[in-house]
Amino acid sequence: MHDDIAQILIPPARLKARVRALGRRITRDYAGRDLHLITILRGGLFFLTDLARAIERPLSLDCLGISSYAGQQQGTIRITKDLDDSIQGRHVLIVEDIIDTGLTLAYIRRNLLVREPASLHVCTLLDRPYRRIVDIPVDYVGFEIPDTFVVGYGLDWRGKYRNLPYIATLKPEKYR
Ligand code: IMP
Ligand code: MG
Repeated sequence: MHDDIAQILIPPARLKARVRALGRRITRDYAGRDLHLITILRGGLFFLTDLARAIERPLSLDCLGISSYAGQQQGTIRITKDLDDSIQGRHVLIVEDIIDTGLTLAYIRRNLLVREPASLHVCTLLDRPYRRIVDIPVDYVGFEIPDTFVVGYGLDWRGKYRNLPYIATLKPEKYR
């Protein structure tokens, strides 16, 4: 195990099984429709690539770069890299790593809705519903997790640990 890791919360096999199950549900729910996945850079990347391969529908994807962090004020969220393609008339599914206060996603939803997608839904790997400040509809959730900072499978602490193949907590002395 990595020296800085305190505890593995979700091992690779559980991630894999859950992502497959989400893919099957999305495949069913989007029957007859083409799907456009939008992930939020950079935390959602690892989840996106696995989830996309678990969906048996024609799909396209795009990335939105955003500067935000857990606990920050709504006004500090901004787009650092816009989408490459128009989403007008498309069935958009936002693929997020984690939803905490919901402020980031609320901002993204507002921003995408004015572009007039045919539909807009949300899939997040991790969720802390009890931390919500703004209420937002979340359609697909991988796992609800406790109120401890986590890294791995795309999630970082100061840019590190994204490549861990599991979701884990860090030793407190590593980040406080
Ligand atoms: P929200 O705006 O409070 O919902 O925060 C969501 C964003 O904060 C996520 O997209 C992550 O980038 C970041 N974040 C929240 N919790 C964690 C965590 O435990 N580890 C790493 N990043 C996190
Ligand atoms: Mg994020």
